Amino acid sequence: MASNRKVMVLPGDGIGNEVMQANMKIIDWLAKHRSLGFDLSEGLVGGAAYDVHGTPLTDETLADSIASDAVLFGAVGTPKYDGVPFEVRPEAGLLRLRKEMDLFANLRPAMVFPTLVDASTLKPEVVSGLDIMILRELCGGSYFAEPRGIDDLGDGTKRGYDTNAYTTPEIERIGRVGMELARKRDGRLTSVEKANVMHSGVLWRQVMTALHAAEGEGVALSHMYADNCAMQLVRNPKQFDVIVTDNLFGDLLSDCAAMLTGSLGMLPSASLGTPDPETGLPKAMYEPVHGSAPDIAGKGLANPLAQFLSFAMMLRYSFDQADEAGLVEKAVNMALESKRTGDIMAPGCEQTDTDGMTKAVLDAMDRLAR
Ligand code: IPM
Ligand code: MG
Repeated sequence: MASNRKVMVLPGDGIGNEVMQANMKIIDWLAKHRSLGFDLSEGLVGGAAYDVHGTPLTDETLADSIASDAVLFGAVGTPKYDGVPFEVRPEAGLLRLRKEMDLFANLRPAMVFPTLVDASTLKPEVVSGLDIMILRELCGGSYFAEPRGIDDLGDGTKRGYDTNAYTTPEIERIGRVGMELARKRDGRLTSVEKANVMHSGVLWRQVMTALHAAEGEGVALSHMYADNCAMQLVRNPKQFDVIVTDNLFGDLLSDCAAMLTGSLGMLPSASLGTPDPETGLPKAMYEPVHGSAPDIAGKGLANPLAQFLSFAMMLRYSFDQADEAGLVEKAVNMALESKRTGDIMAPGCEQTDTDGMTKAVLDAMDRLAR
């Protein structure tokens, strides 16, 4: 269907392919029942691109991604590539996309669906009704800052190092997104670093404090050390509204938050850049937080729901289709009432596979649309 919604589809490796194929069925449904069309292109990324081109992301795929309104991403990496040079491992393709598209704001919402309260390893009262947002800085810190490398010390030993550096503007721009998000939610922002140990953390706290004093009306800002935050996330996660943190801490804390929701297979994400001055839309990529799950890849068993929820975020943040986004989210919750993939299986539910779960969501969309 012709449309001005240009979407670059990058399924990647492992279960990325299976959950993306499932996502296409949701897209087909919206085309048929809501006349919502997308101009879809598909490309290779990760190991899939390396096998064909010897690089996990070609310049052409990068250019197509930059030219699109949104990138819909699956997952990258499998142990098959453990031996390939570090610069061309599958993950490097994902990191290059994030960096070159300047997708500095990574939104990772962790919501416990009412139907999934029992799937969490935590007590129901700790997680029921949970709705928090982890905002992870995605283009700086120890993932990208220089110097980084492995040096030969000449005595038969080596030294490996990464730099966790942040500049004032880098902290300010993620801090602004954090305050905007908090304003649209419960108005509470927790800034997370290790200012007790790290210089980057000291600056992070100073800049967040100054930014909040200057622009933080309507937002209550608090600060927390990252180790304490990890502990608080499993002790009493509902104390949080929005957590803003750096690239590495955000990577760790979002996996932790994912598990509160029952499974890594449930957590979507949006990675956004600066809004375009003409369209007002940011460059954007949407990807499930789970990886390529090599252990179950190719078996049709993967939970496709984080992919669907990432797609719903795309509808909401890139295409202003809040109704359709809500429809997908509601259908996911409805489908979970009876059907479960193995990762979130519970007594009384019917265990199903990727196709079965997808069909349950499509059936729920049919029922909701009536
Ligand atoms: C994530 C992943 C990635 C990261 C990997 C696949 C490079 O763990 O998106 O959280 O570390 O950022
Ligand atoms: Mg991660």
